[in-house]
Amino acid sequence: MKSDEPKTSVLSAAPVPRRWRHEVELILIPEERIARRVEEMARQIQRDYIGRETVVVALLNGTVMFLADLIRHLSLPLRLDFMGVSSYGLGTESGDLIFTKELRLDVRGRDVLLVDDILDTGRTLSRVLGRVRELKPKRIRTCVLLDKKSRRIEDVEADYVGFEIPDLFVVGYGLDFAERFRNLPFVGVLYPRVYKQVCKRLNQAAAKRKQPAKR
Ligand code: IMP
Ligand code: MG
Repeated sequence: MKSDEPKTSVLSAAPVPRRWRHEVELILIPEERIARRVEEMARQIQRDYIGRETVVVALLNGTVMFLADLIRHLSLPLRLDFMGVSSYGLGTESGDLIFTKELRLDVRGRDVLLVDDILDTGRTLSRVLGRVRELKPKRIRTCVLLDKKSRRIEDVEADYVGFEIPDLFVVGYGLDFAERFRNLPFVGVLYPRVYKQVCKRLNQAAAKRKQPAKR
């Protein structure tokens, strides 16, 4: 899906809603633009998956909004399942990956569409692809809303990409920072002080947990 893959301009003109003005510095991708693009992606997927035994496998929790919007545009007899992957990183850097939920549906011999929110270093997608391949599906294609190409460490690309974005830590439309901001209807960037404050709090809490209990 390389031809119509849009690149985002860093500053969209959309004003930040008053409710979020204190924390959100800018809107990178407004709600309407996401909606249009997700519909386009669904059309392409629909063409590619027609007549196939499709299982959509979505990664928790960041895909929640993207997935809901994507699959409502797919008129295919698909099945849906989730995999839980979590990284133990603090703040904006990811740490070691652990699987928190395995697939329940059998994907053997089926066509899998693997959906994630964002492709960053590629560690998550390559680990998950390895895991799903062990289950012997007929074919796997990958679909991400966002792609930070410049951050890639692993040799992995997605078959369907919503937007290619610059190296910024983004939140909203399912994506979180320290488990917050998933409910923003747009993709945006927080003020640096918000990232710093939360990172500081997380580090303090982690240091406290490491201290031996006082007698
Ligand atoms: P990767 O393993 O480095 O490719 O990172 C993929 C995962 O890191 C995604 O599924 C997200 O959960 C998280 N992630 C990476 N970049 C961002 C970001 O800018 N905002 C929020 N989460 C991110
Ligand atoms: Mg994620």
